[in-house]
Amino acid sequence: MIYLITGIIRKIIHIFNIINIYGSMPYTEAFILEVFRVASIFPYAVPHCVTEDSELRGYLIPKGVSVYASIYSTHHDPEVWGDPENFRPDRFLSSDGSKVEKHESLLPFSIGKRQCPGELLARDQLFLFLTTLLQNFRICNEDGKPLPTLDIACGNIILEPHRYSVIMKGR
Ligand code: HEM
Repeated sequence: MIYLITGIIRKIIHIFNIINIYGSMPYTEAFILEVFRVASIFPYAVPHCVTEDSELRGYLIPKGVSVYASIYSTHHDPEVWGDPENFRPDRFLSSDGSKVEKHESLLPFSIGKRQCPGELLARDQLFLFLTTLLQNFRICNEDGKPLPTLDIACGNIILEPHRYSVIMKGR
């Protein structure tokens, strides 16, 4: 039985190698960080209940109240980002483009004890998904159709893109 497992590991080992090269593809990583920022797919995270009377910047937040962290506002604050409306991956890169610079206001998975436990899985999946698509397909706009916009549509608790269509041509 163990041979079945090791056989499968040998077959998929290249996937782990892809994850290892993550650090050597700073622009790709910065692109994904910018997607996290612009998309803010979980705009108000999950509500949390205040366990004791608390004060924040002069406001009393009584015990028992539900609070929502506005991840969307944090990701679109002009005082923090300068030009939040622009999709600009290089905001996460060092000036020579060789390193990814993490930003303390980028919080797609929230923060604290209850932050998303699926973060690493989600990051790796997105990296593999994006790189595999771009490695294998050329993605083109449909003739005569407008390009997809960065405007977002409201799902139930997540934000999602408006419907769009593209043509995927195998490379
Ligand atoms: C791009 C993908 C994802 C994003 C942006 C995301 C974001 C978030 C956010 C903002 C929260 C709320 C944290 C808080 O309330 O402080 C959360 C919670 C959670 N996420 Fe994710 N998540 C993603 C993918 C995943 C995946 C892949 C899994 C599991 C495999 C997962 C499992 C969970 C669970 C179980 C919680 C609740 C944690 C708790 O309340 O203790 N998430 N996520």
